[in-house]
Amino acid sequence: MAKVTIVNDGVTLDVPDGARLLEYAKAGSGMLFGCESGRCGTCICRVVKGKENLIPRTQLEEQLCRHRDERLACQIWVKKGEIEIEY
Ligand code: FES
Repeated sequence: MAKVTIVNDGVTLDVPDGARLLEYAKAGSGMLFGCESGRCGTCICRVVKGKENLIPRTQLEEQLCRHRDERLACQIWVKKGEIEIEY
């Protein structure tokens, strides 16, 4: 079970290893989502810690995210461990 802390909200979510962050973040944080398919950019966030504990960025993320530590939260699958994200 991974621990994903959403810094802005001050919450830590328990996310099963290998799971998509989307459903957990929607239910347990104030993160905003739009298309949920990596196209609108609404869910851009910054990985503060634990980037290595996430699957690598998708091609859509490479196109929409300007900085290396940015991700689209709807495209994040968690591998394991501790992760910190802010939006
Ligand atoms: S919700 Fe549209 S890119 Fe994530």
